[in-house]
Amino acid sequence: MSDDSPAGAIQRALSERFGEQLAVDPGLVGLACLAKIAGYRSHRRFQPRAVEPDLLRLLCACALSAPSKSDLQQSDIVIVDDMAVRKAIVATIPDMPWINEAAAFLVFVANGERLPMICKARGKPFPNDHLDQFFNAVVDSAIVLSTFIGAATALGLGCCPISAIRDHIATVSGLLNLPQRSVPIAGLCIGWPAQAGEITPRLSLDTTVIRDRYPSCDRLGEIDAYDRRRAAQRPYRRQRDADRWGEASFYGWSEDKARQYAEPTRTDFGEFVRSKGFRLD
Ligand SMILES: Cc1cc2nc3c(=O)[nH]c(=O)nc-3n(C[C@H](O)[C@H](O)[C@H](O)COP(=O)(O)O)c2cc1C
Repeated sequence: MSDDSPAGAIQRALSERFGEQLAVDPGLVGLACLAKIAGYRSHRRFQPRAVEPDLLRLLCACALSAPSKSDLQQSDIVIVDDMAVRKAIVATIPDMPWINEAAAFLVFVANGERLPMICKARGKPFPNDHLDQFFNAVVDSAIVLSTFIGAATALGLGCCPISAIRDHIATVSGLLNLPQRSVPIAGLCIGWPAQAGEITPRLSLDTTVIRDRYPSCDRLGEIDAYDRRRAAQRPYRRQRDADRWGEASFYGWSEDKARQYAEPTRTDFGEFVRSKGFRLD
């Protein structure tokens, strides 16, 4: 296997990601596409180059070709063309002004309005008005988001999903004039990357790929091993909320996530989802 072959690129990317040397059959068809998936990284710096409307539409069509629960098609994509609207959304996320620099900005919406509307129009009861309806719409929307990212990445575009649009969700919902039972799951920045970016190591495959039944094992020990592998490869540049928690002598992923989630965020989300008409029982 030559070093610059797709199989070699996949092996390198996944070794960096998971700390494991995976077997890759160089004769498999589609390895170039797999190499893009394996080497995925989110991009937050973009060239000043447009993503043409036709290309955006093509990517939306590919994304919305993804599977959909019961063919219910409960996922929409909002293309935020109007810079005033984008800026108003970004104003609700003051620590991410770079979102305004992306060539395009989309919002992926879980839309559960159509299904009860159809039931009513067809004179049918809708006894399935419970948490599953919200969940199905969100899952569909997440799959469409993921498919969009895969398609855009295949073309060399860079993406960064933005869940921070849910920090002030009622404001964003108003700006986008979202219908009832419609909840934005994430925004998405898209553009031609200005930097190569870096692979982010993930938890080991032994931690997250389960064969048959979850084993009893030292789960915190696995996380600690990941903390150390990741810190050796990509140490955090700064410690989060050091004023509150102090400077740790060893600062790993688990410390960062524990600090992140020690702060309350989006505590109004459930209330917003209910206010949009979803029942979450
Ligand atoms: C649903 C979702 C929401 C995200 N929201 C944000 C966000 O609001 N801001 C941001 O900078 N990155 C966001 N990200 C990107 C993650 O921070 C990123 O995927 C993670 O750090 C791993 O890095 P990688 O994508 O380069 O592998 C989000 C990713 C996902 C999947």
